Order: sequence, then C-alpha cells, then structure tokens
Amino acid sequence: MSGTIVDCTTSKTSDAVSLYRRTMGRLAGGVAVILSGTREAPVGMTVNSLVSVSLNPLLLLFCARLHSATAAAIARSEVFSVNILTEGQIRASVHFSGKHADFDTADLQARDEHIWMKDNAGTMLCRVERIHRAGDHDIIIGRVDDVIAGSELPAPLIYHEGQYYSLGSACALPERGDSRALRLSVPDGYEGRP
Ligand SMILES: Cc1cc2nc3c(=O)[nH]c(=O)nc-3n(C[C@H](O)[C@H](O)[C@H](O)COP(=O)(O)O)c2cc1C
Repeated sequence: MSGTIVDCTTSKTSDAVSLYRRTMGRLAGGVAVILSGTREAPVGMTVNSLVSVSLNPLLLLFCARLHSATAAAIARSEVFSVNILTEGQIRASVHFSGKHADFDTADLQARDEHIWMKDNAGTMLCRVERIHRAGDHDIIIGRVDDVIAGSELPAPLIYHEGQYYSLGSACALPERGDSRALRLSVPDGYEGRP
C-alpha cells in the first residue's frame, strides 16, 4: 500500500481534518439541493451526502451541519424535497451552497406544503422520519411520499475535489489479461469479474 498514513487519534486536529476532507473529496458523486420553505421564500442547501437507505418503506438520508438554516426549516415544517441536479444546474448548486449565484424562484414548483425545482434529474418529496445528532452534523432521515422523475435521462452534475464536472463516458470492465486496462482502473487485490 502506498501513501501517507496519518493517525487521526494522535495528530493535530486541523491536520487530520484537512487530510480527511481532501481524501473524502476524491469520492466523486452527484449533487442534490434540499429545499424547504415556500416558493416565495425558499430555504435550501446543496448536498453530496445524499444516501438511499431503505426500499420498504422508502427512506433516504442526508447530513446537515449543526446550525444549518435549512435543517432548522425542515425541523419546523417536517417536510423537504430532494432535487437531483443536472449539469445545467451549476448556478443552483452554487446558490444553495451559500455563494449567492443568481437563482430565479420561477424555477420552483409548489404543491401543498412542498416546493421543488423544475427541470432537474429527479425529485423526491419527503417527510421527516427521524433526525439523529452525529458529531457536528445531523443525519436527517426522510420518508419518500412522492417521486417525480423526468421523462428524459438528463446528464447529471458531478462534484469532485471541489470542482463541478459533467459525466464522462461509461467504463467497460476490462477483459482478463488486459494488463494496461487493469493497471489503469482496478485496485490491488481485485480478482476480476464479480
Ligand atoms: C457540492 C457540495 C456539497 C455539499 N454537501 C453538503 C452536505 O452534504 N452537508 C452539509 O451540511 N453541507 C454541504 N455543503 C455545504 C452547504 O451547501 C452550505 O454550507 C450551505 O450554505 C448550507 O446552507 P444552510 O445554512 O441552509 O444549511 C455542500 C456544498 C457543496 C458545494
């Protein structure tokens, strides 16, 4: 195994946090905006901590920092929407990460107590199932009441090491014996096809 090993139990907290953040940043993933509030006064946050939890019942979770305005609005209203972003929605991602890029509330739809974004890759309308405190974040678990899937398959927005990307081409599993491909894409100890 190569790379630096940092013992996070003994090293300076700031060193451990920065190495941990940089290392987790290597996990590329999709981006979602969590929305609550009203169409006139939406409250929202950009997240990449979204995880599907359960199919029966339908449950998902995301993590929100303590003192999050969005988490406070969700705790009050007990509802939120999860909006999976397309590559055309970088502005919304920047806006809801607190950086105040333009966002037009005309891009929102509303029904009953829910608001959500138009023209995204997919939406889940949720009700709070449970909130767990975990360190300096809350784990917010939502029960999915409605799923709104677009008719087309739009290109998703990807976040990796602090930058936005479009999805590249799909990778094929390398053939056995293709040592060049194996070196490029398969970790040590990987035995081949699952
Ligand atoms: C791509 C991306 C992903 C993020 N993921 C999270 C996350 O999962 N949880 C979190 O608390 N903040 C996350 N943030 C930061 C929040 O979006 C940001 O702090 C936002 O202002 C929080 O709003 P709030 O004060 O309403 O919670 C992320 C930011 C970006 C750009």
